[in-house]
Amino acid sequence: MNDSRTPIPVALLGATGLVGQRLVTLLDRHPLFALREVAASDRSAGKLYGEAASWRLPGPIPQAAGRLMVLPADPSRITAPLVLSALDASAAREIEAAFAAAGHAVVSNARSHRLDEDVPLIVPEVNAAHLELIARQRSRRGWTGYVVTNPNCSVIGLALALAPLHRTVGVRKVVATTLQAASGAGYPGVPALDLIDNVIPGIPGEEDKLHVEPRKILGRLAGGVVEPADLVVSAHTHRVPVQDGHLIAVSVETGESLDPRRAAELFREFRGVPQRLGLPSAPAAPLVVTEAPARPQPRLDRTAGEGMSVTVGRLAPCPALGLRFEILSHNTLRGAAGGTLLLAELLAAEGRLP
Ligand SMILES: NC(=O)c1ccc[n+]([C@@H]2O[C@H](COP(=O)([O-])OP(=O)(O)OC[C@H]3O[C@@H](n4cnc5c(N)ncnc54)[C@H](OP(=O)(O)O)[C@@H]3O)[C@@H](O)[C@H]2O)c1
Repeated sequence: MNDSRTPIPVALLGATGLVGQRLVTLLDRHPLFALREVAASDRSAGKLYGEAASWRLPGPIPQAAGRLMVLPADPSRITAPLVLSALDASAAREIEAAFAAAGHAVVSNARSHRLDEDVPLIVPEVNAAHLELIARQRSRRGWTGYVVTNPNCSVIGLALALAPLHRTVGVRKVVATTLQAASGAGYPGVPALDLIDNVIPGIPGEEDKLHVEPRKILGRLAGGVVEPADLVVSAHTHRVPVQDGHLIAVSVETGESLDPRRAAELFREFRGVPQRLGLPSAPAAPLVVTEAPARPQPRLDRTAGEGMSVTVGRLAPCPALGLRFEILSHNTLRGAAGGTLLLAELLAAEGRLP
């Protein structure tokens, strides 16, 4: 941890977008980090942040951030050692690599590097040990910095819920049906006339992420590579007219049968490295179990643990796969900005920042 109590300077790429705005809010008065630089596309560069960001969050733009000049996302213009990236995926691959090559620690929300063999894909409670990949990444690519990534917003909730089951009895098959909030598409996102009074099945690219990312996260680090977990995920995704909060209906086949009461205990007892280290953004309990019949619900449960806990409910035997339940996570907090910050806090606590 940063013992000197001098805040660690942070730069934020993609600062004007929805995830960027969440990060700006979370960084305001953060105990370890201080937001010093913001960057976005050429459309925003050269403007004050307060003018460039189309602010979508309740409350005003934090004052200090509002006065920052938006910079181009170019490493020659940024000095902070820690770079949080909420860049659109179309721009992230090249820009993040340039920052890592220039010696910055990049913590990314974008999909661009997630599946690279030498890039950690981290849910801090689940696979903090995969950060060991950083050394291999630097030596293979000749970078003085590195890139670490946050999973897809639906995958984070799913991986957190699967982790205690996988560790205890092994997970073999997962069928997951998502109902994903509008904010998951960024701003301005899906046109209102497509989404109001409607449900849109099949979010482009999302089902593939749900099929692949949990296998990497739950995989085992051996000989400097992650062996993906031996499990199969089948996902259906839907965009629904909810502002924030992704709901996922999950059925699971486990290696040994698991009754719902035991599964609830495993969820309740689950803790990870962030809880042990007392990281500032770590919720007391990563998984919160509800026994109410019609929960979790986005409006009622997305702020559990200040948006960092995943709520699990409707645990029941599944006639097809053995166990079923529903999970709800806040997609721009735990699923994006909060998850990024927790990962950055973990890097700081482990002394991995440049
Ligand atoms: N929304 C979620 O729930 C969620 C969850 C998990 C992960 N993510 C991922 O997080 C990232 C950000 O998502 P978002 O929802 O915040 O998207 P967004 O609202 O569309 O914001 C995208 C940001 O990227 C910047 N940008 C776009 N093209 C650029 C370029 N060529 N060079 C530099 N900056 C550029 C934009 O700047 P301008 O404003 O100047 O255009 C904006 O700041 C995406 O990769 C997304 O897939 C999102």
